Amino acid sequence: MAATTARPSVVPKKDLESFQEHLNKSTRILALLGAGLSASSGLPTFRGAGGLWRTHDATSLATPEAFGRDPGLVWQFYSYRRHMALGVKPNPAHYALAELARKKNFLTLSQNVDGLSPRARHPADKLKLLHGSLFDVKCSDFFCDYLEKNNYTDPIVPTLAIPTDESDPTTNSALAARELDISDENVAIPELDYDHLPKCPKCKRGLLRPGVVWFNERLPSDVLEDVDTWMDEDDIDLIMVIGTSAKVYPAAGYVDIARRKGARVAVINMDKGDAPASGLYSRDWFFEGDAAQIVPELLKSVIGETNTEELSDAAQ
Ligand code: APR
Repeated sequence: MAATTARPSVVPKKDLESFQEHLNKSTRILALLGAGLSASSGLPTFRGAGGLWRTHDATSLATPEAFGRDPGLVWQFYSYRRHMALGVKPNPAHYALAELARKKNFLTLSQNVDGLSPRARHPADKLKLLHGSLFDVKCSDFFCDYLEKNNYTDPIVPTLAIPTDESDPTTNSALAARELDISDENVAIPELDYDHLPKCPKCKRGLLRPGVVWFNERLPSDVLEDVDTWMDEDDIDLIMVIGTSAKVYPAAGYVDIARRKGARVAVINMDKGDAPASGLYSRDWFFEGDAAQIVPELLKSVIGETNTEELSDAAQ
């Protein structure tokens, strides 16, 4: 009879007890958030079934080149996303993470631009918006530093309004109803010229642009510096990877950096195939399902019950 050699298990844990035991004694905690966190609030994710980028060619909209080529088209896309984001509310997971930030040394790195964590009053100094915000606007002129934060005006200029009258097929509302499917050649997108787009109030020369990080752009250097400073301070006990496909770098790279600093990894995702590229180990956790339900449950041992009805939305 041959002896069986015990192989190390590479199956991550799934139990709440072992996670909460580790969470309770953790002193430095990190989270990486993605679009899946806001899915149950009603916002589409980017990749996969029902994802925004499935029907849109991301590089034709979310790049500085696209803005240079057709700022009217790019503004319509972002105006539509601002409108959609303002039409939904933070969910219990946004509130639970905000509460954890008040209770522990917990830094959140969010790839989300939807404004829902700030609206759940996540402490601003503990929330690093790696990809900016739909509600920040800045001047597109290289020589102008104008930046306005938390601009919730919808639409940002009247010409970007989404009218409620859907009888006219050329209106933005008709486009919105068709999910602004610009990949559909039959969808006529009204052209908006320079005169009808938001202008910089400071230099009066440049067009304003959404304060988000586009493909081919660097992440904001002040944000990266803050994150590096926090990461370098000490070891990290835990990183929660919530609702992200963890495929976009440099954001996804923070999982490995945290692991090198000792962190155990807990993934919360609807799709069990979406683990970080470096994989998961037996000391890690994978919680499969809706982040809005799972996150408050996971954090309960530190933050107590999350009752969203008692919590306020900073955009109201
Ligand atoms: N709960 C938890 N996870 C969910 C849920 C949910 N209710 N719904 C979807 N997910 C998961 C999906 O399985 C997927 O792994 O959320 C993830 C969403 O992945 P992406 O669409 O790739 O979004 P994200 O990871 O945030 O994308 C990163 O890419 O397009 C750029 O700049 C954009 O910030 C974005 C970045």
